[in-house]
Amino acid sequence: MIFDTHAHYDDAQFDADREALLESLNTHGIGRVVNIGANIESTKSSVALAEKYPFIYAAAGVHPSDAGQLNEDVYQWLKTLTAHEKVVAIGEIGLDYYWEKEADVRANQREWFVRQLELARECGLPVSIHSRDAAKDTLDIVKGHGRDVGGVVHCFSYGVELAREYLNMGYYIGVGGVVTFNNAKSIKEVVDYAPMDRIVIETDCPYLAPVPHRGKRNSSLNLPYVVSAISQIKGISPEEVEAITWKNGMDLYRMADASRQ
Ligand code: NI
Repeated sequence: MIFDTHAHYDDAQFDADREALLESLNTHGIGRVVNIGANIESTKSSVALAEKYPFIYAAAGVHPSDAGQLNEDVYQWLKTLTAHEKVVAIGEIGLDYYWEKEADVRANQREWFVRQLELARECGLPVSIHSRDAAKDTLDIVKGHGRDVGGVVHCFSYGVELAREYLNMGYYIGVGGVVTFNNAKSIKEVVDYAPMDRIVIETDCPYLAPVPHRGKRNSSLNLPYVVSAISQIKGISPEEVEAITWKNGMDLYRMADASRQ
């Protein structure tokens, strides 16, 4: 079975066939999905999906692009959600300097990234980190405030040097459709470099569909292409990649405890 550690099935792109698609996942070898909150609305939807489907879990958090939504009330609301039995992470949180160029907006992203890391520590949950064009600031903040928190850098887009830094702090590397792209040299090098027990698989669907469906709507059904690409880089069978990344997903989200199953 494949563990999709990062999905957005609340996205409007799934409105027409969400139920049928989700109900088909198990029979296609997708055993578990963590649906990731990115703002107030999608955190609510993620929790609702987790309550509806036994194999879906939720992450609660606000993405840097929506950091403007955050205030003390929202923070307290996120904190109450961490007690929900199917909320397994804080995320996605982080920095996105690709979309945000304004200094004060970036400063606000950093402030709430730190606060959400501290929330994760307080609640004993791992984090799902989003970082785009913000390598240095993300690393500085995780070193300063998230060293002992643990979690995953999702859709890892930096090089081996940065991967080493996160691996040394105990973080997992999130690998998705990009690893199948011909021009994606960097993530292929990172997959080659990272120990197999620190790689987790994700879709980030509806985004980032792997080859041969690049550019189309993504779903967990495409994950065998990601498994195959990793198996080629690592020189192990797809079955081994599935089994190891399944265990990694369980470890990342601390699901070994029977009460979380
Ligand atoms: Ni995402």
